[in-house]
Amino acid sequence: MRYGIFSDIHSNLEAFQAVIEAYKKENIDRYLCVGDIVGYGVDPGGCIDKIKQLDALTIAGNHDWAAVELTDITYFNQVAKQAIVWTRDKISKEDKELLRSLKLVHEVTDFVLVHGTLNKPEEFNYLLDVELAMIDFGLMKKTISFVGHSHVAGIFIQEKGEISYSVQAQIKIDPKKKYIVNVGSVGQPRDRDNRASYCIFDADKKEVAIKRTEYDIARTQEKIIRAGMPPFLAARLSSGM
Ligand SMILES: [Fe+2]
Repeated sequence: MRYGIFSDIHSNLEAFQAVIEAYKKENIDRYLCVGDIVGYGVDPGGCIDKIKQLDALTIAGNHDWAAVELTDITYFNQVAKQAIVWTRDKISKEDKELLRSLKLVHEVTDFVLVHGTLNKPEEFNYLLDVELAMIDFGLMKKTISFVGHSHVAGIFIQEKGEISYSVQAQIKIDPKKKYIVNVGSVGQPRDRDNRASYCIFDADKKEVAIKRTEYDIARTQEKIIRAGMPPFLAARLSSGM
């Protein structure tokens, strides 16, 4: 079974289309989305349509829940807030139902999906350091957890109580270890690589690969500016920050 696992599309249709094209060469059996379909970008409906076409099992990101008022946005920064208010106006009733139905955690045979952390997933904390990784490893019943949220692709590995961090693009899963794989962001990478990030998990070969693909950034930026969204949301797509 080959899984296509991706996260943080953030209404960036050009990036999402590029990732879908890249996945076509990968013999994917099942698509999974680790949250934040919407927010920041200007194509929420188009991205939700693609999720439906892929039949991607999707879990909730903070922006998805914020768009349907299931989570508070007082802690969102100013541009994120502005984008969420804009998004609320643009999504159909049917798409709002879909966002409202998204669950926080989903377990698949040998792995688990969560947007931020398994510890209090409803708080959408950023899993960026060893301390938080340690707590999540303690809660994991599966060998691998796939996460998003930080928009930074990378892998925490636990072996005999020790935790290391790797930015290796491809790893072989050792059943004696545990892994937290951040699949990076499709539509707004923040790891100084402006290409869209996506992950492939081959459950038979026990291999995880994180890949990148280029997309038409200029077109997305133009659409963001034309929609009257904050220019910073367009500019950051070039820098990948
Ligand atoms: Fe996000």
